Amino acid sequence: MPPTKSVVITGASSGLGLHVAVELARADWHVVLGCRAPERGAAAAALIRERSPAASLEVLEMDLASLDSVRAAASALATGGRPPLHALVSNAGVQVANGVRRSADGHELTFATNHLGHFLLIRLLLDHVAEPGRVVLVSSGTHMGPRHSFGFPAPVWADPALLADPDHSPMDATGRGGRQRYATSKLANLYTTYELARRLGERRITANAFDPGLMPLTGLSRDYPTRIRRVYEALGAFSPLILTFPGSRRRPRPRKGQDQRGGHHGGGSASGLRNRKADDPVGSVLTAHGVVRLMWQV
Ligand SMILES: NC(=O)c1ccc[n+]([C@@H]2O[C@H](COP(=O)([O-])OP(=O)(O)OC[C@H]3O[C@@H](n4cnc5c(N)ncnc54)[C@H](OP(=O)(O)O)[C@@H]3O)[C@@H](O)[C@H]2O)c1
Repeated sequence: MPPTKSVVITGASSGLGLHVAVELARADWHVVLGCRAPERGAAAAALIRERSPAASLEVLEMDLASLDSVRAAASALATGGRPPLHALVSNAGVQVANGVRRSADGHELTFATNHLGHFLLIRLLLDHVAEPGRVVLVSSGTHMGPRHSFGFPAPVWADPALLADPDHSPMDATGRGGRQRYATSKLANLYTTYELARRLGERRITANAFDPGLMPLTGLSRDYPTRIRRVYEALGAFSPLILTFPGSRRRPRPRKGQDQRGGHHGGGSASGLRNRKADDPVGSVLTAHGVVRLMWQV
């Protein structure tokens, strides 16, 4: 049977985004691979087809660090020609840990990619999301500070205009400043999710922030010094043990009968936040396949 629902996944060329694309293609979604480099998108599509020959896929060029590119991708998505768009997974991410870099628009690159590009994409696509729908923002646990997040420095929140402007940012150009910028961009994902959930009102679209936990073997640490990347590689080899590190043990299983929905039902939705109230319908889906599980109710 041809797919009846489409999902857009940003950063689908590697890491988590690619795995989510594999699983959703297998689950008969039409998968739009949002990738900044068409050749990496094509390679991802080929890999997915190797695993699921009947997969329904398309590669859409989308550079989250360019607002014009995001606008162009959003208008291509609004024109139709595919099953209705029921889900958006805002997954693409970078962590500039080496100096300060700027996006095509001159904004600080980590904040631009992780927050600004996705914020614009969601705003432009929201009216085109069919009900029931789901918007997932892949965030992290780094907003919780070093004790709960593998020693990661806590975010430094400020007016988003300052966070976007490297010349006026409260964070410096050191590696620590780079990690603070990453944590801050992920906090922005959480704030966006809460506000989105509030604004969705009665629409049957849920918003979730999703923390995948520590994934040491993805490309996210590509900007780190070699010695740190080696530590990550070693951690990857012992991945089951990683669950014992502080900041990694944040994968509560859904309790029996617990709703996996977020959004307007709970006044916000941020899977991965600790200390959720027992009746909070969020914070329930935190496994590596959590994004895919979230889709079951769409
Ligand atoms: N790894 C972890 O421990 C961890 C923990 C918590 C949260 N996360 C989050 O999980 C998400 C996925 O990261 P990952 O670990 O899977 O890392 P990854 O392997 O580096 O994947 C990141 C993806 O984002 C894409 N991307 C980067 N900049 C982009 C841009 N300007 N426009 C479009 N796509 C862009 C990359 O594309 P290219 O192939 O073109 O580079 C790649 O497909 C991120 O949001 C990250 O913050 C990761």
